Amino acid sequence: MTTDDLSSRTSVRPSWDELPLPVRDSVQAVLGSPVANARTQTGGFSPGLAVRATLADGRAVFLKGAATDHPVHSMYADEAAINRSLRRQAPVVPVVPVPRMIDSWEAGGWLLMAFEDIAGGHPDLRPGSADLPAVMRLLDQLPKTVSPSPIPDAPTVAAVLGGGFHGWQALADQLADLDPWSARHLEQLAAVERDWLGESGGDCLLHVDLRADNMLMRDGDALAVDWAHLHQGAAWLDPAFLVPQLIRAGHTPAQAEALIADLPAWADAPPAAITSFAAAQAGYWERSSRLPAPTGVPYLRGYQADMAAIGRTWTEYRTGWW
Ligand SMILES: Nc1ncnc2c1ncn2[C@@H]1O[C@H](COP(=O)(O)OP(=O)(O)OP(=O)(O)O)[C@@H](O)[C@H]1O
Ligand SMILES: [Mg+2]
Repeated sequence: MTTDDLSSRTSVRPSWDELPLPVRDSVQAVLGSPVANARTQTGGFSPGLAVRATLADGRAVFLKGAATDHPVHSMYADEAAINRSLRRQAPVVPVVPVPRMIDSWEAGGWLLMAFEDIAGGHPDLRPGSADLPAVMRLLDQLPKTVSPSPIPDAPTVAAVLGGGFHGWQALADQLADLDPWSARHLEQLAAVERDWLGESGGDCLLHVDLRADNMLMRDGDALAVDWAHLHQGAAWLDPAFLVPQLIRAGHTPAQAEALIADLPAWADAPPAAITSFAAAQAGYWERSSRLPAPTGVPYLRGYQADMAAIGRTWTEYRTGWW
């Protein structure tokens, strides 16, 4: 995959016309005007509905949804709850940098969400891109607007990710066939891959999925979309999730870290915890990429195999293990 592929063809989604009629009709009931034109968006990996739609009255909206018995339904239900809480939040300056959710509802056995449509496309994360300052502003704003978490009882990131966001020990137990660097350092990687959990506590609502295809540009600002994972924790984690995406886009690990160096959340993070996180993420990708593809999600495992190599590059840089 190239840098751009994440925004192009990585998902297989239902088209608007394939939806049951009561689901399509519900848009008119809720938004006051039927859909006149719907363009399926192919970014991301989820097999849910994602369409940019023009309503008959001329309004532009983004519609997202899934059948309530679909495996992605619980993730989309969390996304609706998160966006309801972001909308309810008392006015803060700066405002939460997300597209406003207009409404969410259930109809015909489906959960639907309608968002304001953002027309500016995904940010270009490549070195030298004019979008990078906006992406850094987005990362700077997140802790200022969603800490403390607008959902105070959101589970901790340690509780949600602690059980599965690692992989080296599992790969060692399976005697997995690994690249020479991973094989050489497998014991060390397994030894550190859970250390970051001890430094993951905090009250910041975390996005944890800030890839180029989960951000959109509007009037020179970057907005976060696809806020589908419900957990709170330390604010350094969202910048840490972005680093491999910057490396994927062509930055060296040093260049990627230099870009986020001035973010207060990152500057305050314990370096050993970041290194452990880098190892955990690489192990997670390495292990996940070997699992069977989930139904209807044909491109995820290939992406994870690419990201495992990128995660290794970052971990190698941070550990200095050659
Ligand atoms: N408010 C919006 N306005 C315009 N386009 C949007 C909007 N929100 C999302 N999109 C586009 O639709 C694509 C898919 O949306 P989103 O990432 O929310 O779906 P997803 O099914 O959760 O994907 P993922 O596999 O990443 O979980 C995005 O990559 C983006 O291109
Ligand atoms: Mg997405």
